[in-house]
Amino acid sequence: MIWNLGSINIDNFYEVPHLPAAGETLAATSYGFGLGGKGANMSVAAARAAARISHIGAVGADGRWTRDRLLEYGVDTPHIAQIEMPTGHANIVVERGGENSIVLFQGANVHLTEAIIGGALTEASPGDFLLMQNETNGQEYAAATAQSLGLCVAYAAAPFEASAVERLLGRIDLLVLNEVEASQLEAATGKTVGALGVADVIVTLGAQGCKWVSNIGEKHFDAYPADAVDTTGAGDTFTGYLVAGLDRGMDMVTAIDLALKAGSLMVMRRGTADVIPDLKEIQDRFGI
Ligand code: RIB
Repeated sequence: MIWNLGSINIDNFYEVPHLPAAGETLAATSYGFGLGGKGANMSVAAARAAARISHIGAVGADGRWTRDRLLEYGVDTPHIAQIEMPTGHANIVVERGGENSIVLFQGANVHLTEAIIGGALTEASPGDFLLMQNETNGQEYAAATAQSLGLCVAYAAAPFEASAVERLLGRIDLLVLNEVEASQLEAATGKTVGALGVADVIVTLGAQGCKWVSNIGEKHFDAYPADAVDTTGAGDTFTGYLVAGLDRGMDMVTAIDLALKAGSLMVMRRGTADVIPDLKEIQDRFGI
């Protein structure tokens, strides 16, 4: 079972000819909205990877539909509180080449209480996973509580802040971050990612795949080829699938392979949580 302390956003998507420059007013060529947030995206990915996942989060009255949608996608939602704050949202501009730029309003995501988080984790069992990203408050409390309960703590360090990772060191078992973030973390800590005391570190490398750093050394994995149209949510899909695979008992190599397959399908789609591929689509594409 996975417990995901995670953001829930209303994602607004704008397709643009190029990312806007400072001071530029730019007309979008299309607009749409859907369920998003790094947390919600990972919950949906894990559910689509056939893991049992309970989302811990908060929305406002304007985001009740996001909670319903998570439920419809197979995510447990009793620990998503409705509070007196607007739901978080993200304005995502995507240019034709697939690159994006995101402005976040955190809203309810950063008003979680220890009662909401602690109440959820009292239902967890040793060996379960706690998954977190850096879009909610309460990360340190959740990690400490999960650690005391014997959970495995996984942290996707996005949006990246070295100080947020540093505060969690000693409490996380699995860390996922990209290459630039890994360098920033090494600069901040003065240590390589392999020397942080985190059992497993996954450094994602975009079109180059990823590397797994652990006490048995470093292993590189190639990405599966994909014609990317929108990279938004691809990292979240990767992490959701990775943790789902591990929670389902796969070894790290098998879980990473599944996550890379899911990520390669995701970059060929426009959107976030609503378009994350399921296992059947991965099996159809890769013949497994
Ligand atoms: O990683 C993509 C996500 O980042 C979007 O869904 C958006 O909500 C932001 O949180």
